[in-house]
Amino acid sequence: MPVQYKRKDNMKLELKDIAYSYYSITGEESSVLKDLNVDFHSGEICGVFGKTGTGKTTLIQTLNGLIIPQTGQVLLDGEVIRKGKKGIPGLRRKVGLVFQYPEHQIFEETIYNEVVYAIKDTDISDAEKKKKVRNALSLVNFNPDYDIFTRSPFELSGGEERKVAIASVLIMEPELFVLDEPSAGLDPVSRNSISELIRNLKKNGTGVIIVTHDIIWALDIVEKILVLKKGGVVFHGTRKDFMKRLNEFYNDDNFYLPEELLLLIELEKNNINIEVDRFNISSIYDQIIKRKKKKE
Ligand SMILES: Nc1ncnc2c1ncn2[C@@H]1O[C@H](COP(=O)(O)OP(=O)(O)OP(=O)(O)O)[C@@H](O)[C@H]1O
Ligand SMILES: [Mg+2]
Repeated sequence: MPVQYKRKDNMKLELKDIAYSYYSITGEESSVLKDLNVDFHSGEICGVFGKTGTGKTTLIQTLNGLIIPQTGQVLLDGEVIRKGKKGIPGLRRKVGLVFQYPEHQIFEETIYNEVVYAIKDTDISDAEKKKKVRNALSLVNFNPDYDIFTRSPFELSGGEERKVAIASVLIMEPELFVLDEPSAGLDPVSRNSISELIRNLKKNGTGVIIVTHDIIWALDIVEKILVLKKGGVVFHGTRKDFMKRLNEFYNDDNFYLPEELLLLIELEKNNINIEVDRFNISSIYDQIIKRKKKKE
């Protein structure tokens, strides 16, 4: 289902010299983000990888003002976001954040009420609201036959609930759409529909940031990759460059590569250089077979 709204401009969201620490009740400091500089653009899909506890969730919460960094600046199209009432709501309209397990935050009695929530108090007409709800639900491939006006979102399966929760953020038509572990716990079909949604959003110019441990799944979708290590950036570049530099992560205790990528490195060590941009097991298999045939 194509996205039905169009983007006018390119948007750039920058984090400049960001640092953020959590403090315990006793005042003990735990530094999570350190001198972080990174930018994200509309129309671009970026994967954020890194071991657990490296600050990925903290980082994306700075993108829509849920967390205000103690040091550094957040800039939207070159303008510093002010920390008060003027800056943050504007940022939240542009940057939509879907938390990990967003289905746990569902609270309305009907699917319609859940999805419409973010726009219910705007002066958009009821007919237009209904249209937007239907559009948001169809973007996530939610079964259109479901009676959204009477059925409770709590009657849905876990995967369907997640779709509804994602639609409730999509309805704001964010310019930057940030998803924290969107594929966690989903079956392959549901994961594919998340992939399709992300590609469709990119097509209409929306920027997408995916925080995930599911690197192989993400490699099929992302163009840019950001790797975090202890709250700092160790890599930020294109997927192609990431694939070229896999070796650098090989013996790194601060960033684990999935076994599929370790296999590529092992093949290369044995002088079997596979041309790979995104990870695709059948293409790798074909290339190995071709080499074998050449040798015979
Ligand atoms: N509300 C909080 N109060 C105190 N410390 C926190 C809080 N939230 C996160 N932390 C700590 O900050 C660090 C970074 O956490 P964060 O959730 O950003 O990591 P992450 O990369 O998203 O991890 P994961 O892959 O497990 O989701 C961790 O050490 C975590 O324990
Ligand atoms: Mg996290």
